This record gives sequence, structure tokens and C-alpha cells, in this order.
Amino acid sequence: MMEYLTLNNGVKVPALGYGTYLTQPRVTEKNVAQALKVGYRLIDTAQNYGNEREVGKAIANSGIARDEIFVTSKAQTSGYRSTKMGIDNSLAVAGLDYFDLMIIHWPTGNDIETYKALEDAYREGKLRAIGVSNFNHQEVQQIIDKCDITPAVDQIETHLRWQQQGMHKFLNAHGIVHEAWAPLGEGSGSVISNKTLNQIGEKYGKSAAQVMLRFDVQEHILTIPKTTSVSHLKENIDIFDFELSANDIERIRKEDEKTSESGWPLSMMIEQYY
Ligand SMILES: NC(=O)c1ccc[n+]([C@@H]2O[C@H](COP(=O)([O-])OP(=O)(O)OC[C@H]3O[C@@H](n4cnc5c(N)ncnc54)[C@H](OP(=O)(O)O)[C@@H]3O)[C@@H](O)[C@H]2O)c1
Repeated sequence: MMEYLTLNNGVKVPALGYGTYLTQPRVTEKNVAQALKVGYRLIDTAQNYGNEREVGKAIANSGIARDEIFVTSKAQTSGYRSTKMGIDNSLAVAGLDYFDLMIIHWPTGNDIETYKALEDAYREGKLRAIGVSNFNHQEVQQIIDKCDITPAVDQIETHLRWQQQGMHKFLNAHGIVHEAWAPLGEGSGSVISNKTLNQIGEKYGKSAAQVMLRFDVQEHILTIPKTTSVSHLKENIDIFDFELSANDIERIRKEDEKTSESGWPLSMMIEQYY
């Protein structure tokens, strides 16, 4: 039932995955195991989340072949040396031979050197794809101009009220996949209680959350909702049996207010003016 996107180096990625932000290490293993059982095949973790070890354990104990699971982590380091060491450390902590995707978690001002460490780890086969997160279009352009490998992904805050339509066009034009963090607006009512999403959902017998996630999939936005509830876990992946119409998509696009839920990082706020 899962749909897939193809990254600019030919690597296939499930269109919907499972996010683990703020998931305490002690519950991460159980939650990720549950997600894998329900059918998720993309797990999003980060050095910053402190739960790479538990993600790795859940994968190891899942009985699912490693090459059927796409694992993303995020480098929190700045500069070449610390980033190279950080990648090796993350792999050791997670008990993995490679990550499917490693992205710079947020810009630090030393991003070219940091990205070069990702490039080298990619060349060494430790990463199947590399990219960035929370980079505005100028910061992405700088990586394209000054590094060898165009990022495969930019993971940015994206949901109903901040759809990142300017970034979406920019990333598409450069063959970079737009990945949404906080696709459900971090659980605030702005997505779940939205009238338009609920009205559209009624036509298909789907919830507002399902309509939001289906929108992402149809718009080729990689999406990684988080939940600690088994019923939401099942609900969020149950989006591959219906198709939003062009009119639905247009109605959802009109709900964009260019409003961030998090207000972070400040460097992304310039995108509100594009
Ligand atoms: N790159 C970055 O800087 C960055 C920043 C933030 C997040 N991320 C990544 O993106 C992932 C997702 O973002 P997020 O966790 O911030 O926010 P999110 O996925 O938009 O929202 C999570 C919230 O939505 C609720 N929820 C989930 N499914 C639901 C449903 N079907 N109906 C109603 N409520 C539902 C969850 O509550 P329940 O637990 O009760 O279901 C939780 O409170 C993260 O886990 C992380 O992997 C990356």
C-alpha cells in the first residue's frame, strides 16, 4: 500500500515515515517497534533526540531486513572533524552499518565544512543519501554552489498553516525532496480541528490528520508524523486508499497562512516573504 519517492541519487524512500522527536529513549524502542509492526518503513531520529540507540534496537529486533527500512538521522555537529566523528558515533550507537539519510539538523554558519563531512561519509558508503534541514533557500543555494553533491532532501517545518509553497517550488526546481517536519502542526488544533480538512475528510471517510498527510503524499512532500498512540499510528498510515481531487488540493492550498507553529529557526522566517 505504501507509496515511494525517489531521491536525486536514485534511492527510493517511503513517502510516509515515523518521527521520534521528544520521544524519551525508554519509550522509543517500544514505539518504533510498534510503528514497524503497523507497516512504517521510514524512521526519523537525530543525534539531538538522544534515541538513536533505541531506534537501532527496535530495528534489530523487528525481524525485518535492514534494507527494507529507511533510517534518517541528523547531525548536530558543526565543522568537518566533529561531523565525521559524530556520524561514526551515531552508527556505533544505533548499531547500524549505514544510515539511509543523514541531514544537517540546522544551519550553524559552518555549513559548508559540515556538509563536506557528510559528502565524504556518503562516498565511504556510511550514508546512502545526504541533505539538510531547516535550511532556507539561500542556505540551500550556498550548499549547491560550494559543495559537490546537491542535497537529496531539505526537512523543514511544513503543515496546513505554513505550507512552504515558495520553498516547495525552489526545492522541486533543484531536484531536492521537500520533507515536512511537524506535518500535523505539532498536534495543535490548527490541523486536527481545521474545518476545511474535516469537510474534505467527510467525503472520503477520513480524518483531518489523514487528509493533511494524504495532501503531503500527493504533493510529493515526504512526511513523518509522530504519535505515541497506537490508534493514531494506524490512522496516519491509512492514507493510501484514497485520492484527493484537484479541487481538494486547491482548497487546502488556500489555508496557507505562512505561520510557523514553532518560530524556529529564525533564519527560516525569511521564507514568509516569498
Ligand atoms: N528537523 C527538525 O528540526 C525537526 C523539528 C521537529 C520535528 N522533526 C521531526 O518531525 C517529526 C514530526 O514532527 P512533530 O513530532 O514535531 O509534530 P507532528 O508530527 O506534527 O505532531 C505530533 C503530535 O500530533 C499528534 N497526533 C499524531 N497523529 C494524530 C492523529 N491522527 N490525530 C490527532 N493527533 C495526532 C500527536 O499526539 P499523540 O501522541 O497523542 O498521537 C503529537 O502530539 C518529529 O517527530 C521529528 O522526527 C524534525
